Amino acid sequence: INGASGGVGTLAVQLAKALGATVTGVCRTRNVALVRSLGADHVVDYTRDDFTRDGRRHDVVFDLVGNRSLTALRRALTPDGTLVLSGGGVYRGGSLLGPIGLLARGRLLAPVVRQRVVVLATSPGRAHLDVLREHAEAGRLTPVVDRTHPLREVPEAVRYLETEHARAKVVITI
Ligand SMILES: NC(=O)c1ccc[n+]([C@@H]2O[C@H](COP(=O)([O-])OP(=O)(O)OC[C@H]3O[C@@H](n4cnc5c(N)ncnc54)[C@H](OP(=O)(O)O)[C@@H]3O)[C@@H](O)[C@H]2O)c1
Repeated sequence: INGASGGVGTLAVQLAKALGATVTGVCRTRNVALVRSLGADHVVDYTRDDFTRDGRRHDVVFDLVGNRSLTALRRALTPDGTLVLSGGGVYRGGSLLGPIGLLARGRLLAPVVRQRVVVLATSPGRAHLDVLREHAEAGRLTPVVDRTHPLREVPEAVRYLETEHARAKVVITI
């Protein structure tokens, strides 16, 4: 899971563990302990190591960052593994079109390579939420909350999210 310390990644690590996977999470140094505490079996600090060049092959690579090429991401996959692309942020050294280009290239590549390339597109629905609720009630899924702000501090919360490299979720209380 590339982006394992983010709002999506922290939940993805826990869900993958709940489903029985052996999980490698990728994040920056200050988040290594957090990702390990969520159950990741291996954690790669992207400021020191490159998970696409360490020789490990994964059955699934879930990319939440969008700043690596398809070639690099596929290098981290087993020959018949699955690459799941899910966008990425413009502030991660990419251009506005960068993540969109990656998704478009992924769609074009999908029919002609043995590995599966999937662009994640989900629509929220009760069935999905029920699965998440069951995992949460069983203690297998706990949101990671960086900060909590009251409603009147929404501008400060958004500023923090956008400029301070927030960790996982920032919550507004009402
Ligand atoms: N398809 C969908 O339905 C869907 C839904 C929601 C989100 N998304 C996509 O998923 C992406 C992630 O969302 P999020 O809410 O989890 O974002 P987020 O909370 O901002 O998390 C960003 C993640 O990216 C990592 N990261 C930041 N800069 C990096 C860099 N230079 N190199 C490697 N990793 C870096 C962060 O790691 P550190 O903090 O440890 O540096 C963190 O794990 C979004 O950009 C969005 O496009 C898709």
